[in-house]
Amino acid sequence: MSGCCPGVQVGGAGKSCCPAAPKTAEAAPMGELLQGQHLGSDHDAVKASVQQYYGQELHSSSDLKTAACTSCKAPPPEIRAHLKDVPQEIKDRFYGCGTPLPLGITGLRVLDLGCGTGRDCYVAARLVGESGSVTGVDMTPEQLAVARKYVDSYTAQVLRYAKPNMRFVQGTIEKLEGIADASQDLIISNCVINLSPDKASVLREAYRVLAPGGEMYFSDVYCDRRLPKELRTHPVLLGECLGGALYINDFLRLAREVGFTDPRSLEAEPIAINDAELAGAVGEAKFFSITYRLFKIPGRLETLCEDYGQVAVYKGTLPGHKHAYALDDHHRFIANKPMLVCGNTASMVEETWLKPHFIVTGNRDVHYGQFDCGTPVTLSSQPAGGAACAPGGACC
Ligand SMILES: C[S@@+](CC[C@H](N)C(=O)[O-])C[C@H]1O[C@@H](n2cnc3c(N)ncnc32)[C@H](O)[C@@H]1O
Repeated sequence: MSGCCPGVQVGGAGKSCCPAAPKTAEAAPMGELLQGQHLGSDHDAVKASVQQYYGQELHSSSDLKTAACTSCKAPPPEIRAHLKDVPQEIKDRFYGCGTPLPLGITGLRVLDLGCGTGRDCYVAARLVGESGSVTGVDMTPEQLAVARKYVDSYTAQVLRYAKPNMRFVQGTIEKLEGIADASQDLIISNCVINLSPDKASVLREAYRVLAPGGEMYFSDVYCDRRLPKELRTHPVLLGECLGGALYINDFLRLAREVGFTDPRSLEAEPIAINDAELAGAVGEAKFFSITYRLFKIPGRLETLCEDYGQVAVYKGTLPGHKHAYALDDHHRFIANKPMLVCGNTASMVEETWLKPHFIVTGNRDVHYGQFDCGTPVTLSSQPAGGAACAPGGACC
């Protein structure tokens, strides 16, 4: 199984993974491509280019210009088991860079932004069970045609549900038409938002459609700095999921601005750029595939961690997490072991879909000062080419 994005092959002159390079440019050697026409800040041109790529250029993961997804960790065993039952054509056209599929989400309403051919939706449809629902949104009709093709047979033969609990909708993620305010419990997305020319609108819409207590749990490509405009807007770099990658701190600012006050990073994998010319073009910039968790808990998340003396105990009840549960890259709960937490963390485990799996004692009646979360791990503190990074959130 292969995935989208980075790890460009040495001397690569084939096709780009995540999209964008116009057909004429794709056949050219990378040297010429880097001198090619820029898309500028024309949002429609970016979307048209991405749509053209996914609709007409890519037919399977083997068409990818990139090496097999070096940024992807293998999915956990529970997800791997479910993936066995997902139709092969769907898996062949998976272009994600992570596994944004939390376990234990029975009954939730899930929305997948940029679902592509629907690999994650098919797994999510099983994870939420018959009482839950999954909606995949994508702007590319060819991708959706594959996603829709197997819904009935998969529902009847694999899930054995009376009727489908997943649907696929054509639309853009910058304007989620037909998705009502506060109508979703969990938003997932896999290697998509970097492709959007208007990321602020994507996050704003995600916040709008999430119900209070809802969560956005998604994987995408990020950069350790702001790229200069000529790199940001170049079709080839966009196509390689590099040009559109947000600087991590800008993403965190954007997330907070729209209401996701305390973004938490769960996992981060460095992305290798093997093509010498592309590596030369991006210079010292480093790219990461990161899975973030953004909770919508209106009025409850503070910009800094505060100490109210609250203690959280994880019950060991989430599937696949019998002994411990990682809320993020710096909160790992050992089952049944009391852990002192800040007010934000208490809310994340007590006022969201995680509630049945935690016992929180204490409330916010008494304030003991700022919560000491220790020194945040930062990108700059990682060794070059290190195995992981933790860009940090408001808390810790
Ligand atoms: C890299 S692929 C990932 C697809 C899928 N998430 C997966 O893991 O296979 C990106 C997908 O996002 C869709 N996409 C990109 N920009 C979009 C936008 N602004 N609105 C809706 N869909 C978009 C593309 O059509 C494509 O199917």
